[in-house]
Amino acid sequence: MKRFLAFLLAGAMLISFCSCENGQTDPDSNGDDALQQVDPEFVEGLTDPNLTYSKDELTALEESGEHYVADYDVPSLCKYFEGRISVGASFTSNQITNLEDPIAKGLLKHYNMYTLGNELKPDCVNPSEGVYNFEYADDFVAFGKLNGATLRGHTLLWHSQVPQWWFKADPNDTRSLAECNEAGALATSEQLQERITTYITDVVTRYKDDIKVWDVCNEVLNADSIRRIADDSYWADIIGDLDGNGYYDDYVEIAFNAARAAGGDDLVLVINDFNMEWQDSKTQAMYDMVERMLRKGVRIDGVGFQSHISVDCNIDTYRRNLEKIAGLAEIYDECFPDYAGNFRIQITELDMNMFVGADADGSFKTWSDEEFEAQAVKYAELFDLFLEFADRGVLDSVVFWGTDDENSWLNSTPKLRRNAALIIDRDLSLKPSFYSIAMTSFD
Ligand code: GLA
Repeated sequence: MKRFLAFLLAGAMLISFCSCENGQTDPDSNGDDALQQVDPEFVEGLTDPNLTYSKDELTALEESGEHYVADYDVPSLCKYFEGRISVGASFTSNQITNLEDPIAKGLLKHYNMYTLGNELKPDCVNPSEGVYNFEYADDFVAFGKLNGATLRGHTLLWHSQVPQWWFKADPNDTRSLAECNEAGALATSEQLQERITTYITDVVTRYKDDIKVWDVCNEVLNADSIRRIADDSYWADIIGDLDGNGYYDDYVEIAFNAARAAGGDDLVLVINDFNMEWQDSKTQAMYDMVERMLRKGVRIDGVGFQSHISVDCNIDTYRRNLEKIAGLAEIYDECFPDYAGNFRIQITELDMNMFVGADADGSFKTWSDEEFEAQAVKYAELFDLFLEFADRGVLDSVVFWGTDDENSWLNSTPKLRRNAALIIDRDLSLKPSFYSIAMTSFD
């Protein structure tokens, strides 16, 4: 029985996190049409216009009992932070097909920044040569237009969720990349440069009026340098050290240049990675690489801290690492005086693992009020930290990774267990963290 339930849960997770079928984009895709026909007043109708977003009102709301994400008398979370930071969430396209669904309503009501969790990744968009799937991204764009949210494109280049054919000399080769490597059948540097440039040009051009922020590269670093084949990434080894400066990050430069050329000067181009919240060596490697690129004239507008953190995360360590990356703003201004002030940190995939320790078990765990309170305290400390940097003009957004505790990858990674990572509960009620975060806006 236990195994059967685990199997069901795993199936549901797989559907919600990997929903991306292969096939050519249908320009008349239904979802897109339906989203485009939504009455513009629909979003306004989600929140009571008399709400004032005051501290008293928030306190009264919290004290008055249970409230749910799409309740009419619940104020919009992002409004508390207007003019300081954008507040966002990631989702999958199947969560926005029915606008009467409270999750979809909650997304429209509470957030002014969105990320499509999986379906704008290269393996979904360009699964085989000559095939592009744009229907999910088109729906994402149409949904974002409903409330005018800023859209983050995630992601153009990664070593994971990337089509394997890109790295093969013959795109139809059915062997694994390891086998191709062994047989000398990997793509040449020129082939891979051509494929990534074409891909980025096509995707960024298509969405340049709508997707204004891109995670151009995701997770290109290991603990202290550029990833290589030993770290599961073929990018550096195939493309090579083209400028002979001893660093194998030339592909990162190619990707940023292609995105800029396709999307223009207004796009915000970000490099995104994990663990920088605590791993000083990685943050240093990011700093060094971005500095090198800026000085070469590659305009990188921001660094994304994924921020998949734990409830025991150390705020001072996090602050120290944010401070390090904030130091790039000065170099950016020096290298790109016309864009001075434009460099920013973004918090791109925030969630909070409630299990302390990777091995802790808990497939059927129920979380106590005390544990939710402890989470609320930690989330508030984090937002205080983010606002500190936002008010200095170097941090502009915080995006949660997922919509609610049920729809979070942390229920299945690193193992199947009932996590509670976000600020909306499984039954879509507001957790203490929702209120504690909103409260930080009054400090
Ligand atoms: C990483 C990626 C995201 C997503 C999460 C897990 O952080 O950047 O796209 O895959 O892992 O869901």
